[in-house]
Amino acid sequence: MRIVLSGAAGFIGSHFCDRSLAEGHTVVGLDNFLTGSPQNIQHLAGEARFRFIEQDITDEFSIDGPVDCVVNMASPASPKDYLEHPIETLEVGSRGTQRMLELVVGRGSEQFRNRRSAAVWTWRCNWLLPLRARSSEWRPSACGITSA
Ligand SMILES: NC(=O)c1ccc[n+]([C@@H]2O[C@H](COP(=O)([O-])OP(=O)(O)OC[C@H]3O[C@@H](n4cnc5c(N)ncnc54)[C@H](O)[C@@H]3O)[C@@H](O)[C@H]2O)c1
Repeated sequence: MRIVLSGAAGFIGSHFCDRSLAEGHTVVGLDNFLTGSPQNIQHLAGEARFRFIEQDITDEFSIDGPVDCVVNMASPASPKDYLEHPIETLEVGSRGTQRMLELVVGRGSEQFRNRRSAAVWTWRCNWLLPLRARSSEWRPSACGITSA
């Protein structure tokens, strides 16, 4: 399968690349290094079935060739990163996800996997509470997204 993966230079994305390549797949990795690092994927530089494109997925882009599966992992992923990059977090969760979905539309891709966090965090208090946290004092505000 030819997999297009956003967040390829991140913690989970880089391991996903390793695993997918080990299973015989071809991977096109996208990342803008907002919170990820080139070091996470430098060992894949000589790998024929791996191609990396430095790309902010909130911008317009296209992928040449077949796309069998799209995996969306691009997003800041911790309270520290959310607070450092609040607008980028919202943009990658909305427009970025839309751009990744557009890769699927009309291409006959078999699968779209959205691996973004299932947690919903509040931005209104000192403590960041996941959706399921029970608190009479704080209520999570809505900015969440799904996982599948
Ligand atoms: N780490 C966990 O324990 C955990 C748990 C549940 C869900 N998740 C979700 O998995 C995903 C990956 O988490 P992670 O821990 O690997 O985080 P990470 O920060 O290491 O990786 C995210 C990657 O996305 C990239 N990115 C961010 N915005 C981008 C953009 N606009 N365009 C292109 N690339 C962009 C970053 O540069 C980074 O390489 C996140 O969506 C996170 O919410 C993580």
